[in-house]
Formats: sequence, structure tokens, C-alpha cells
Amino acid sequence: MTLSKKDFVSIADFGRAELESVIDLAIEQKAAQKAGRLNRSHVGRVLGCIFHKPSLRTRISFEVAMHNLGGTSLYLTDKEMGMGSREAPEDVARVLSRYLDAIMIRTFDHGLVEQLAKHASVPVINGLTDLLHPCQVMADLQTIKEHRGSLDDITVVFIGDGNNMSRSWVNASARFGFRFVLACPEGYAIDDAFVSEAYGGDTGLFEQIHDPGASVKEASVVYTDVWTSMGQEAEAEKRKRDFARFQVNDALMAAAPSDAVILHCLPAHRGEEITHEAMESSQSLIFDQAENRLHAQRAILSMLVRPEGK
Ligand code: CP
Ligand code: NVA
Repeated sequence: MTLSKKDFVSIADFGRAELESVIDLAIEQKAAQKAGRLNRSHVGRVLGCIFHKPSLRTRISFEVAMHNLGGTSLYLTDKEMGMGSREAPEDVARVLSRYLDAIMIRTFDHGLVEQLAKHASVPVINGLTDLLHPCQVMADLQTIKEHRGSLDDITVVFIGDGNNMSRSWVNASARFGFRFVLACPEGYAIDDAFVSEAYGGDTGLFEQIHDPGASVKEASVVYTDVWTSMGQEAEAEKRKRDFARFQVNDALMAAAPSDAVILHCLPAHRGEEITHEAMESSQSLIFDQAENRLHAQRAILSMLVRPEGK
């Protein structure tokens, strides 16, 4: 099984059937790995992981995923590469393509990932930009599918910022056809142009409101993320004030259906966007979700990177 695109930069680049085949492979490989029969299909292949921002899950899960498939990985930071300062990104892309079988990058500017993808002959995977975090949403969708058996008839409610996570959820909602509600303070919405483009003009599946309690009434999933994303640290104190009402806690979950689950991409700031109690509650799937980064990304690598002998 392969994907129709060379790169994995945005969920919007793929159709539902293709995305669901990645999720199904992730579920299948998860079972195979736990049974000790995962196929080492990528012996000798090398993944380069470029990080311009910190990471726990993305770095370790990508590196472990590549090792699980029989391949190896390299951790690359800008100290060595100087992308854009020491060397033009298009030249870096072309040189890395001569050594590596795939590139994963976490950076600020989404345009840089698109530029790398354009100039690299090997697959480029988006490990988070200021705009999007598509690999996280693939793991999240896997978690929901494992829990509910399907991704049909769900409502995902995001309590927080109009950021890279919630924009990726907009893309997933458009592709899968489920309802997505963003509950955010005034001034932190996703811009209309992004929403309109994602849904091809028909934004009926999307709602943006400023009342967290009202937002969760029909939630299948209550999702949250940090109030201050990487790169926004200078705004942290203002954001703490602006987002104070936008917390996943027992009172909010009491307003949601009793079978709603709690997801958080992590890292979490307990006492800010989520309470300790909500994270540890029986409705929380947060650590299964974190585990699924490994399985979802291994499935993406399996489908995107040329296997051994091919
Ligand atoms: N959720 C996520 O991407 O975590 P890291 O920032 O630790 O990679
Ligand atoms: N919105 C967060 C996600 C972290 C995985 C950030 O960009 O920092």
C-alpha cells in the first residue's frame, strides 16, 4: 500500500479513504507489534528528523517507528544544518535526498516544509509547523476509531486556541465529514479564509463559539491543547488571562455526554488548559493517544517510504 502523494504535509492533501487506510494500517501494525510479528519492511532505509522546536513524542515516536521497521534515523538540528542561513533550503532538500530515504521536519514556517517537499526527491513529513500538526491528528483519529469502532457520526469539540492543532482538526473534519466545534476566546479564532478553503466553501460542519460549556453538549471527543504554543512564549501571560475559562475540568465534562472522551496532544499544563482530575479521569484516553503517535507514524512511514528492495 502506498499513498498517492510523495509527502505528508497536510491532511487536506488526501481523501478520506486514503487517510482511513493509514489509520487501519496503524491499528493492524499495533496488533502485529504487540504480538511480536511486525514486518521489518524497511531494513537499510534512513529517516532524517529535523527539529527547529523541541519535542518528546514526535521525535521519539518517529525514530522508534523507523527502527521498528528495520530502518535507522538521524536527529538533525539547525546547529548543524543552518537551513536558510548557512545554506538555501532547496539545496538542503536536494542534498539530503541523496543520503536519506525520507525527511521529517518540525519547524515554525509551514512554507519551509512545502519548499523542502517541492525540492526533495524523497518524502517529506510535517512533524508540526505553526500552521498544522497533521501526524498528531492521525494518531488522534486512530485513538477515536479504536475506542468507538468508527469515525462516523462524531462531534469533536476543541477547547482552546485557533492553532496548528485545531486547524488540523478542521482539515480532518472536512475530509471525514464529522462536526468540529472550536470553543475559543474572542480574538483566537481560526481565520475564515482557512476554514472556507478547508471545507470548499461549505462550512456547515464547523462551528466557532466562545462559550465552552455550551460547546460540549453534543461532544463525542473533548480535545484540548496548551494555551501558548511553541514560539508564542512572549504572549503567555496574556493568554493565561484570556483563556482562563477555557479549561477541560470536571464541571465542563459534566456538561458533555457521559460517553465523551478526553484527548490532549500533550505536553499538558495541568491546572491551565486541563485539570489533573480530567487528565486522570476514566474518560481520558490521553496516554493511549500518545502511544498511538508511534503506530500512526509507523503506518505513514510504511506507506510513504520505499521499502527494502524496491
Ligand atoms: N504532541 C506532540 O507533538 O508532542 P511533542 O511536542 O513532544 O513532539
Ligand atoms: N499547539 C502546540 C502543539 C504541541 C504538540 C504547539 O504548537 O506548541
